[in-house]
Amino acid sequence: MVKTSGENRPVLVIDFGGQYGHLIARRFRELGYRVTHLPAKTVKGAGVREVTAEVAGVVLSGGPASVWESMHDDIVRAVLNTGIPMLGICYGHQLLAKMLGGRVSKAPKPEFGPTEVRILRPEDPIFKGFHSDRILVWMSHNDAVITPPPGAEVLAVSEGSPVAAMRVGDRIYGVQWHPEVSHSQYGSRLLMNWAEISGIPRGWGESEILNLAVQTLKEQIAGLEGGARVISAVSGGVDSTVATVLAEKYSELDIIPVLLEHGLHPAGWVEDTVDALRSLGIEVVVVDVSDRFLDALKGLTDPEVKRKVISRLYFDELHRIAKEYNAKGLIQGTIYPDVIESGGLPGADRIKTHHNIGHREAAHGLIIIEPLRWLYKDEVRRLGRMLGIPDSILNRQPVPGPGLAVRIEGEVTREKVEVVRRADAIVREVIRNHKLEEGLWQYFAILTGSRATGVKGDRREYGYVIAVRAVESSEAMTARAARLPWEVLEEIMVRITREVPGVTRVLYDLTSKPPATIEWE
Ligand code: XMP
Repeated sequence: MVKTSGENRPVLVIDFGGQYGHLIARRFRELGYRVTHLPAKTVKGAGVREVTAEVAGVVLSGGPASVWESMHDDIVRAVLNTGIPMLGICYGHQLLAKMLGGRVSKAPKPEFGPTEVRILRPEDPIFKGFHSDRILVWMSHNDAVITPPPGAEVLAVSEGSPVAAMRVGDRIYGVQWHPEVSHSQYGSRLLMNWAEISGIPRGWGESEILNLAVQTLKEQIAGLEGGARVISAVSGGVDSTVATVLAEKYSELDIIPVLLEHGLHPAGWVEDTVDALRSLGIEVVVVDVSDRFLDALKGLTDPEVKRKVISRLYFDELHRIAKEYNAKGLIQGTIYPDVIESGGLPGADRIKTHHNIGHREAAHGLIIIEPLRWLYKDEVRRLGRMLGIPDSILNRQPVPGPGLAVRIEGEVTREKVEVVRRADAIVREVIRNHKLEEGLWQYFAILTGSRATGVKGDRREYGYVIAVRAVESSEAMTARAARLPWEVLEEIMVRITREVPGVTRVLYDLTSKPPATIEWE
């Protein structure tokens, strides 16, 4: 993915298809290390010798498989033979233990979520900078290393992991927990310590991010002539704005930014987007296709079906517009987590069908241009800052591609869109008025599929139930419900029940991710 040589040998993350595999890559990049992140399948195809030729260390990620399926033994054996420093995480830790002669079997107690780990060897350099020998970390495993490999040092234990961390010689480490997840205490520190122990050179910063995006852009538009006309699908989110501005600055393309008004945007979203881009000298063409979207959603209740229909229509409409403009390509703000979550990389389990990936065939001959497809969200923001995009756009909270459609449980109707849009505007206004938005990743309203009785003006009413969701997160892979002050929640409740006709109840969603997702559908 990132081409390097000599001084700048990267960390290679071999991804066994876990949920957090790519977060490992992201953390190393945040720490200033170059990373190559490859699915196990790709490593197998290309050969371990080839892919490790230029790397300074190898990290084995977590994954849904069990070591007893022996799916990845050959890869691990071959990497061990290279003598390159290694770090195994979760399943990767178990793989190392098994291949080096330890015993892995069912954990005495499966561990999921926050788990206490006791460090037995605080003097080991992997724990440098830790201020406690009891730390709270994120675990997610059914199997565990029961007996360490011969010669291994057990560095930490937990209730369900007799070998929660181990060192084998001085070049191989394994941890049962997920240091890449932000909820793991000292997680980034552990990764940095391992990189330092392993002598991995640093070399990832602003200019590398810009280079990667520009290089990706140039590769993708190589088939287009200078001055060729392309459409840029602007959603108003951070990603599509950065992709559009990047392409404006670093290509000769004739770019027409198009915002599809599908009728499912939050209140004020389209107007704010047009104004913000105008301030950057970019004039957006807004095309109203709301009737088509709402008609297509009639009678549909399954969330994945709703997403697919929106996705299909979105691309069909863009294609129609592209044809009208005689465009040859389509710029999209797809970022790395979109690629992963949509199963775009072989080996990652599919979670949700995101609208901005897939259906490429519907783009009939249009060249798809995704200059940000190797970048993480915070890198996109850093890139946006380098490109002069104001923070008001870069810090916008994400709105899913299908917009309010996935915040209405069940069938989407014009009436329901209006109810959730008004409730959502109230949630956002109250949070803004109390200056709470900075600590929140996302905050919004959901129109649940339930009904509940209420009394309004002496009359009983069987009305809508609105759920309010506000989460803290750093990358949306995990999240925690925000502890909003009670008065703020009360104000939201009073205003929604008073100002939005048909709503009789307001609930606050307390659930973390996992087990929940951030969106309800
Ligand atoms: P979940 O609900 O999976 O959401 O915890 C994680 C992040 O992704 C956003 N999201 C979507 N974005 N199309 C998108 O472009 C989608 O279908 C979609 N579903 C969820 C969600 O808002 C959160 O930031």
